[in-house]
Amino acid sequence: MYRNQTIVIISFISLIASFAFTNDFSLGILEKPTYIPPSKQRQGDSAKGYAYLTTGDYLKSGMPYSYFKVFYPKDKRNYLNRTGKDALVPYDFNVVRAPNDVDVVVPTCLQCHAQVFDGKLYVGLGNTFQDFSNISNANNPVSDFGAKVMKTFSPKQYKAALPIFNSFDAVLGGMQTEVRGVNSADKLATLLVAHRDPQTLEWQKKPILEIPKGVIPTDVPAWWLLKKKNGMFYNGFGRGDFGKFLMLSNILTVKDSSEAREVNSHFGDVLAYIKSINPPKYPKTIDASLADEGKTVFVNNCSKCHGTYGDKGSYPNLLIPESIIKTDSLLYSSNQQNPQFIDWFNKSWFAQGENPARLEPFDGYIAPPLDGVWITAPYLHNGSVPTLHALLNSKERPVYWKRNFKKPQYDYDKVGWVYERVDNPKRRIVYNTTLPGYSNRGHTFGDKLTEPERQAVIEYLKTL
Ligand code: HEC
Ligand code: HEC
Repeated sequence: MYRNQTIVIISFISLIASFAFTNDFSLGILEKPTYIPPSKQRQGDSAKGYAYLTTGDYLKSGMPYSYFKVFYPKDKRNYLNRTGKDALVPYDFNVVRAPNDVDVVVPTCLQCHAQVFDGKLYVGLGNTFQDFSNISNANNPVSDFGAKVMKTFSPKQYKAALPIFNSFDAVLGGMQTEVRGVNSADKLATLLVAHRDPQTLEWQKKPILEIPKGVIPTDVPAWWLLKKKNGMFYNGFGRGDFGKFLMLSNILTVKDSSEAREVNSHFGDVLAYIKSINPPKYPKTIDASLADEGKTVFVNNCSKCHGTYGDKGSYPNLLIPESIIKTDSLLYSSNQQNPQFIDWFNKSWFAQGENPARLEPFDGYIAPPLDGVWITAPYLHNGSVPTLHALLNSKERPVYWKRNFKKPQYDYDKVGWVYERVDNPKRRIVYNTTLPGYSNRGHTFGDKLTEPERQAVIEYLKTL
């Protein structure tokens, strides 16, 4: 009897103690950051991975080269120093041989994952210039009329292009964003998955899942961060084999799971390449002693979530719940509202076999590594904040802002895009933070810093 009481008292004390411990972030028991454990990853050859990314046939249907040549002028810049027909098309397309021996031009990962900055192409830098706000069915590169002409006069070419025409038909009308500068790849994936059998991956003319209305805007994470992360995507919900997520774009045109198996066999190499990319160095002078002061401020205020850097650096891999991060919730909450996509993935071909992947949604976002953060503006998962200075002082964040997409200008002091505040959000080149999914709220951890401390942290961030 006496002994039992002691046990009850001890467990009561330990309950209180554990509660106090989780209150480190001053919140309740379910409100603490959650560690993402690592999963087993494939090994590969990064040089082969790079070659496959920039010349390979992970898509096997595209615009016939003979037509592409007519519609698009020759691209003489050859940023990737490629040879043969690849040298004549923009860096974000590959020329590959379709299964019926027609040369086709296919869009690649570099559409969204490479960007020209100050005249130089950075592979792995998220592209925030592509204009998803003016995408519609009218953008189908071959209009219905064009497709009819092709079908009549070059049936073999038409056959090679048909899978991508079908996909464009199903997706282009549904992936328009409200403003320029954000990406709708998540909606693209949703639309494509809805037209694929989860096991065979074969195309279904009618969608088999209910497709939500609206498009959730996101930024594009830099590829050089992936080597530190145990969970992929802003939601950190990509777990298990990363190669399977990397090859997901293949569902744009894949014929069936046997093609997917062949494409999949290259993605250990692609992962090795992505892990080999280093962030670009800040190109201007850095005030070393100010950066050193900033390091102390960073370690005291930011490291518990974002980690430490340099030789002995460590990255904590934490998911930060909504009650702490308070940034726009639309992206993670869509996983709750539309579980059919998570279910599709977790029972699909991608979640099976030797290297299974899975999705584990969470109500919040991963605290990303900040390597090369100086070049990745705009900031937050929805790209709603134009500079680091505004990210670290929430009162300074503009409600409506625009930048020059034609002649981009970088602000190396505030670190981010030179922008203009505007009163009128009507045009699509104006980022409108009052729209659902586009809010710039939350992440107010920089507000309590003094202005000199903020300057110092920014100087330090330039060194990462
Ligand atoms: C249409 C644009 C688009 C294309 C094409 C595209 N991606 Fe992405 N990718 C994105 C966006 C947007 C995200 C972030 C989505 C999110 O987190 O919700 C992303 C996320 C990723 C990530 C996660 C990085 C991280 O740190 O979590 C990797 C890696 C990646 N993509 C690789 C690829 C590869 C490899 C290809 C080609 C086979 C590809 N992507 C094609 C837009 C694209
Ligand atoms: C409680 C955890 C936490 C703390 C403390 C924290 N952050 Fe963050 N940070 C996050 C999360 C989570 C995100 C992603 C939020 C989102 O995108 O919605 C983020 C995003 C960022 C980004 C944007 C990255 C990008 O590419 O968009 C920067 C820069 C950043 N934090 C810097 C800092 C600095 C500097 C400090 C310290 C003054 C700090 N953070 C403190 C969790 C934290």
